[in-house]
Amino acid sequence: MKPTLTTTAGNPIADNQNSLSAGPRGPLLLQDYQLIEKLAHQNRERIPERVVHAKGSGAFGTFTVTHDITKYSKATIFSQIGKQTETLLRFSTVAGERGAADAERDVRGFALKFYTDEGNWDLVGNNTPVFFVRDPLKFPDFIHTQKRHPRTNMRSATAMWDFWSLSPESLHQVTILMSDRGLPKSYRHVNGYGSHTYSLLNAAGERFWVKFHFKTRQGIETMTNAEGEQVIAKDRESSQRDLYEYIERGDFPKWDVKIQVMPEADAETYHLNPFDLTKVWPHGDYPLIDVGVLELNRNPANYFQEIEQSAFSPSNIVPGIGFSPDKMLQARIFSYADAHRYRVGTWYETLPVNRPKSAANHYHMDGSMNFTTPAASDAYYEPNSFNGPVEHERFAEPPLKISGDADRYNHREGNDDYTQPGNLFRLMSGAQQLALFSNIAAAMDGVPQEIIHRQLAHFHKADPAYAAGVAKALEIEWTASGAYPNEPVGAGSA
Ligand code: NDP
Ligand code: HEM
Repeated sequence: MKPTLTTTAGNPIADNQNSLSAGPRGPLLLQDYQLIEKLAHQNRERIPERVVHAKGSGAFGTFTVTHDITKYSKATIFSQIGKQTETLLRFSTVAGERGAADAERDVRGFALKFYTDEGNWDLVGNNTPVFFVRDPLKFPDFIHTQKRHPRTNMRSATAMWDFWSLSPESLHQVTILMSDRGLPKSYRHVNGYGSHTYSLLNAAGERFWVKFHFKTRQGIETMTNAEGEQVIAKDRESSQRDLYEYIERGDFPKWDVKIQVMPEADAETYHLNPFDLTKVWPHGDYPLIDVGVLELNRNPANYFQEIEQSAFSPSNIVPGIGFSPDKMLQARIFSYADAHRYRVGTWYETLPVNRPKSAANHYHMDGSMNFTTPAASDAYYEPNSFNGPVEHERFAEPPLKISGDADRYNHREGNDDYTQPGNLFRLMSGAQQLALFSNIAAAMDGVPQEIIHRQLAHFHKADPAYAAGVAKALEIEWTASGAYPNEPVGAGSA
C-alpha cells in the first residue's frame, strides 16, 4: 500500500488536486492550510547562490594512497598505501550565475572535501596553479570586474582589462585564461591545483611547504571559442551532462594526485616568494612527487542537498596539514565559513554532505535550526567535571617563526610579474600562441585603446613576441620597443 500524503506536521491529506473554495468557482478559503504550506515552501526553495563559482557540478569518489609520504605528513589520510578516503569534488565556473552556460571561457573551480578520520580536509582549488591577485584586499574589486556592470547589467570587457592592466600581477593567470586551457572541453579534462602553498607536518614535528596537483588521466582537452559557442547554442549544461553521464555509465574519471615539497628553511632563501599565489614553483626546482589517485564514482542522489548545499572552506584542515603565510590563503580562512553561515545557515556543517564522518565535538549552542548539539548532557560548557570533550596537546603545530613590523607592504615591490607568464608563453606551441592571440583579441572587443595599450606593454615585458602577436590579431600598430605615447607612467612596475 502506498504511504499516506501528509502536511509537514504529519497531518493526513484528503485531496491534493483541488483547493478548498466557497463554491466551485471560488474564492478560496484561508483555512486551506495545505495550499498555504505548498506555496510558502515553494517561496523558500532557493538559497542565495554562491557569490562566485555559482554554477557547478559535483560528484563523490575515493582518494586512494599509492605512495608513502609519511615522512612529510602525519595526516591519517596518507597513513598507509592503499588507504581509501571518501571524497566530494565540486567543479564550477567562476563568473556566471547559477544558470550560466558551462562552455564559457573561465577558470574552473576544483573544490575537494576529504572526509578523513580526523575531520574534513577541504582543498578548495582551481584548474590553474596561480591566481589573478596576490593581496586579498583586491579580491572584491577583481570579482566586481568579472560580474555585471551596475548600470548596463552586462559583463564589461572594459572593466576586466582596465583592472588587469592596472594590476600586472594578474598577467600569469590572464595568460592561462586566454590560452587554449581557458576553455576546457569538460570538467573531466582539467587538472586541479591547490594553488596556494600549504604546509605538511610529520610525526617528528618537522614542517614542509607543499603544493597539491591533480593531473587528469582523461588528458587535457579544450575547445576553441567557436566550438564553445556551438556547444552553448545546443546545451548550456555540457559539463554537468558529461560528468553525470560518464559516472552513471561506470566510466569513472580519475586524477593522479601529486605534491611539490619544499623544506621549511628553503622559503627564506628561495629566489621567489613561495607564498605568492601568482607564482608556480618550477618543476625543475621542486619536482612532482606521487601520492595517490582520485576517482569520481558516485553521482549525488539529490543535486540541491548534496551539491548546492555543499560548503567547502580552506579553514578545514586536519592534523598533519596546515596553512602558510600566503596572504590570500589567510583571507580565505575567514571568508568561506562566513559565506556559508549566510548562504546555507549557521549550522551548515551538520547537513549530511558537510558533516564529518568522524565525531564533531564542540560547545557551540542554539541558533537557527540547531537539532544536534549539545547532546543531552551536563557538559554543555568548558571546562566541566562531566567528561565533556577536551583539547589534546598532541595536535599542536610546531611554532612558526614570524618577523617584521606591522605595515601595509607594497605587494608589487620586488616582485617579478613577467618571467613566469613569459615562460608559459614560450612553452606554448606556435598554434597555441596563435590561439592565445586571437582569444585575447576577441576578449578585448570594445575596450578603449588606452587600456589595450597599457595591457600590450605588459605582454611585451613578458615576451615581445606576445605583444606583437596580440597587436597583429587586433590589427593595430605596434612598435618593437613597446613604447606607447599614452602608456601610463609606472604601468607594470610598482
Ligand atoms: P615545466 O615544463 O616543468 O612545466 C610546464 C607546465 O605547464 C606543465 O605542468 C604543463 O601541464 C603546463 N602547461 C602546458 N601548457 C599550458 C597552458 N597552455 N596553460 C597552463 N599550463 C600549461 O616548466 P615549469 O615548472 O618551469 O613551468 C613553466 C611554466 O609552466 C610556468 O611559468 C607556468 O606558467 C606553467 N605551469 C607550471 C606549473 C608548475 O607547477 N610548475 C603547473 C602548471 C603550469 P601538463 O603537464 O598538464 O601539460
Ligand atoms: C568560492 C571567496 C580566492 C576557489 C568562493 C566563495 C567565496 C570565495 C566567498 C563562495 C563560497 C560559498 O558560498 O560556498 C574568496 C576570497 C578569495 C578567493 C575572499 C581571495 C582572497 C580563491 C582562490 C581559489 C578559489 C585563490 C582557488 C585557488 C574557489 C572555489 C569556489 C570558491 C573553487 C567554489 C567552492 C565550491 O565549489 O563550493 N570563494 N575566494 N577562490 N572559491 Fe574563492
